[in-house]
Amino acid sequence: MIQAVKGTKDILPDTVNNWYFFEGTFRKSSAKFGYRELRTPIFEKTEVFSRSIGDNTDIVNKEMYTFLDKSGESITLRPEMTAALVRSVLQNSMLHDQPLLRLWYFGPFFRYERPQKGRLRQFHQYGAECLGSAYPESDVEVILLANNIIASLGIPKYKLFLNSLGNEASRINYKDKLISFLKDNNEKLSYDSRMRLEANPLRILDSKDEGDLEVLAHAPVITDYLDHESRSHFETVKSFLSDSGIEYEIQPRLVRGLDYYSHTVFEFQSSYLGAQDSFGGGGRYDGLFEQLGSKRTPAVGFAFGVERLMLILEALNNTPEDYYKCDLYMINLSPEAYAISMKIAGDLRNKGMNVMLDLLKRSFKSQIREANKLGAKWTIIIGEDEINSGTAIVKNMNDGEQIHHEINDLVNLDFNTL
Ligand code: HAM
Repeated sequence: MIQAVKGTKDILPDTVNNWYFFEGTFRKSSAKFGYRELRTPIFEKTEVFSRSIGDNTDIVNKEMYTFLDKSGESITLRPEMTAALVRSVLQNSMLHDQPLLRLWYFGPFFRYERPQKGRLRQFHQYGAECLGSAYPESDVEVILLANNIIASLGIPKYKLFLNSLGNEASRINYKDKLISFLKDNNEKLSYDSRMRLEANPLRILDSKDEGDLEVLAHAPVITDYLDHESRSHFETVKSFLSDSGIEYEIQPRLVRGLDYYSHTVFEFQSSYLGAQDSFGGGGRYDGLFEQLGSKRTPAVGFAFGVERLMLILEALNNTPEDYYKCDLYMINLSPEAYAISMKIAGDLRNKGMNVMLDLLKRSFKSQIREANKLGAKWTIIIGEDEINSGTAIVKNMNDGEQIHHEINDLVNLDFNTL
């Protein structure tokens, strides 16, 4: 039997309710904050990502699904959305007639990573991006939106880790200090970190290697090297978050795995998840527009990993309402009853009810069992006797109560009062 590609998952009818619940929540929360949805293709020219995420990041180096199409063009399945979204905003001149743009997205993303719980090769993200404002208030707005979604999904507790990478001047200053510190400790660093030392020293801060962690415990922290502008931006973000009742923890080594960030960076973590405990993250990326060939445009945003949110919901045993719940099951006990039932089912569906009927000409007992299995709230029973008398039996499946009702008038029955 042919199996699905490693690291990919079918979304089965059993779990699709969760997805509807998520998608509905994403739409509603985004609208509350004035964010509109953008949908872009799932593949882009490779340079969209290689020019923005950073040549020395794991995503670009190891994880992109890149191939040449039949015309020899290098194409990449999107590993994230921010770069693709900026490409689309520029191409469609979306910032030409308005100075501020609020966008959200949801869809599949692709990274060639080692699959494990919470880590897939095709996964889904919801994300939101606020484009055009350099003010810290916009950093706070996207975090409030993220918080609104987490609360609407019924996730009770999570950790928000916060850091600032400052502006470019602060980062250059810090990088010098960090490189010189790491060079002094070169022999204690892992091979990977030694390789990164010159090209991407900030990424070393993310290392999980025990030897690296011992060295890093004494490393200079970026928040000590922020210049006045960067410090004041960060202070405002923190104070607005506190005013809004959002708890956070400063994590001076938080750098995130993409190179486009400046100033605020943040990550959401949950103790309901295992090793892959980060269910979302984001930050400010004031330099990305320039990297993609446009004029400097400040921006900030975040993305959630939807499968990880789903794992949290499962751990909490939260099950959203069943979209496919059976309101009413028609039980037919004669060939003639089928024709009548189909007509009644059609009328009741037009009234908005989910109505199902037996297609296997099963016995009364089997049909009742099926109705119970489907969780039907009511059944309508029609056999020869009912057809002869012109009245059907309507049964409330919760309390077992039955009433007789005229077949021709079933469509006018108010089921909620039964
Ligand atoms: P990211 O941290 O690379 O950021 O991804 C965001 C979230 O996507 C992660 O926190 C995680 O929950 C989920 N995720 C990432 N890789 C996988 C995977 N292989 N399997 C399952 N879930 C995964 C970004 O992508 C940025 N574009 C976020 C952003 C938006 N920054 C600014 N705006």
